[in-house]
Amino acid sequence: MSKLDILIAPDPRLKLTAQPVPTVDNEIRRLMDDMLETMYAAPGIGLAAPQVGKPVRVIVVDIADKDETPRPYRMVNPKIVDASKDLRIENEGCLSVPDFYADVERADSITVEYQDESGAEQILEVDGMLATCIAHEIEHLDGVLFVDHLSLVKRNIILRKLQKAKRAGTI
Ligand code: NI
Repeated sequence: MSKLDILIAPDPRLKLTAQPVPTVDNEIRRLMDDMLETMYAAPGIGLAAPQVGKPVRVIVVDIADKDETPRPYRMVNPKIVDASKDLRIENEGCLSVPDFYADVERADSITVEYQDESGAEQILEVDGMLATCIAHEIEHLDGVLFVDHLSLVKRNIILRKLQKAKRAGTI
């Protein structure tokens, strides 16, 4: 496994629509392992392939605490097929938006269809933090960041600060 570089916003590659994966092959399995290694090292609880410069519909998630056994999810072509009307608010962050956090409202529970690392179709109903995290990662596949849920003013303040920090080489 190897650690990958995480793109920092603003970056046009984070705004692309990622392509569906036709076949879950060794290359995709390797990508998911590398993404998990990158995510754990950051540390983070979710990572989408576009964040490491790969424009494909792949995400990894693990919301287990550090002292718990890891519970990684590897999801290929994930799609939310049902979402509760009940909402929950989480103070979200993102490895591509380092050091900024904001409250985002999302469905409290979602049903996700995806293919696992063997290519088998899976359907999963999740709620709470895991639902928020998976929904956040799936949005990355359509070029949406959590800051896109904020007002234009707030979003621009964050993106400008990140741009400045990138230029200064501090992130
Ligand atoms: Ni993110």
